[in-house]
Amino acid sequence: MSDTATKNSLTQANLTKPKSNKKNRSYGLRGGKRVYDGYNDERKVKDRKKKEKQRLGYETFAKDFPRTNNALPGKYNNKIITGDSAEVLRRLPDNCVDIVITSPPYNFGLDYSEHEDTDDWRAYFDKLFSVFDECVRVVKYRGRIIVNVQPLFSDYIPTHHIISKFFLDKGLIWKGEILWEKNNYNCKYTAWGSWKSPSSPYLKYTWEFLEIFCKGDLKKPGNKEDIDINDDEFKSWVNAKWSIAPERDMKKYGHPAMFPEKLVLRALKLFSFRGDIVLDPFNGVGTTTLTAHHFGRNYIGIDCSAEYCKTAKQRIIDSGGILKWT
Ligand SMILES: C[S@@+](CC[C@H](N)C(=O)[O-])C[C@H]1O[C@@H](n2cnc3c(N)ncnc32)[C@H](O)[C@@H]1O
Repeated sequence: MSDTATKNSLTQANLTKPKSNKKNRSYGLRGGKRVYDGYNDERKVKDRKKKEKQRLGYETFAKDFPRTNNALPGKYNNKIITGDSAEVLRRLPDNCVDIVITSPPYNFGLDYSEHEDTDDWRAYFDKLFSVFDECVRVVKYRGRIIVNVQPLFSDYIPTHHIISKFFLDKGLIWKGEILWEKNNYNCKYTAWGSWKSPSSPYLKYTWEFLEIFCKGDLKKPGNKEDIDINDDEFKSWVNAKWSIAPERDMKKYGHPAMFPEKLVLRALKLFSFRGDIVLDPFNGVGTTTLTAHHFGRNYIGIDCSAEYCKTAKQRIIDSGGILKWT
C-alpha cells in the first residue's frame, strides 16, 4: 500500500470509528483532522476521574485553615512600611490579605542597602521562614502566595525545592510553577566546572521560578467586573513559561535585584482581582506595590531598608497613576 493510501485508510478508519456516547467530550487531532472524542477513547489513562479520586489528590497534604477572613486595618492599607517583615506582619490580623507576591533575598552575596545577603544556610532559612510563617497566617482563606525563587547554582542548595517544601508542610496547596525565562546570557556564566569532562560539569540557568500556593482552596472568589485579564493574555499566560527580560533600570533605582514590572503585572492579572489586597514582604524599591497601584489593587509593601521604601513611595508618586501597559 502506498503512503497516501495508508494515510487515507487510517483517516477513513478514524472517521468511521463509532462515537463514544460518554458525556465528557473534548477536541482532539486525528489523521490531521480535528475531531470530537470522549476522554476515555482519546487518552492513555482510562477512568481518569475515578483514579484521581482514589489518589486523594492535593487533600493528602492540604490542611484546614480558619475560614473567616478579616479586614486589613486602614492604617496598613496602601502603605509602604520600613521594618523587619516578620515583626511588622505580627501586628496584622489573621486572614487579611488576598495575595502575596514576593521575591526574597537569595543569600547570594548581593549588595543591599540594609540586608546582609550572606548568611549560613540554616540561619538564612530560619529568618526567611519566620517571614513566610506570618505570610501564611495573614493571607486570607482562599488567598494565594507567589514566591519568585532562583535555582542557586553556586552552593548546590536547591532553594526553590526547600521553599516549596516549607509551604507544603504548612498545608498550603501547590497550584503550580511558572518558569520565568530571562534569556540573560550576560550573567557571569563563564565557568564550566570540569571542562569537557563528566567529572563535575557546571550547570547554567537562564531562568527563575514562580512557585504558587493556595490557602485552603484552589478557587479564589471574586466579582466578574473585577477581572482585568483579556482573552489573549489569559490564553498566552496560562502557558507556564514566561519569557520576560530582567529589569534594565536597576541602577536608576539603586537596587540590585528588582522584579521586571511585566512579571508582576502577569501574576496580578492571572491570580488576583481588582480591589484585592496585595502584600510584598520583601518589597525592595516597590515594583509589586507600584504595579498593584496601577492596576487597581490595594497594597502593603514592607522592606527593611528606609532608602528602598523611600524610592518605592516616590515611584508611585512619580507615576501619577498612569497605566504604562495596555
Ligand atoms: C530580591 S529583593 C526584592 C526586590 C523587589 N522585588 C523589587 O522589585 O524592588 C529582596 C528585598 O528584601 C529586603 N529584606 C531582606 N530581609 C528583610 C526582612 N527581614 N524584612 C524586610 N525586608 C527584607 C531587602 O532589603 C531587599 O530589598
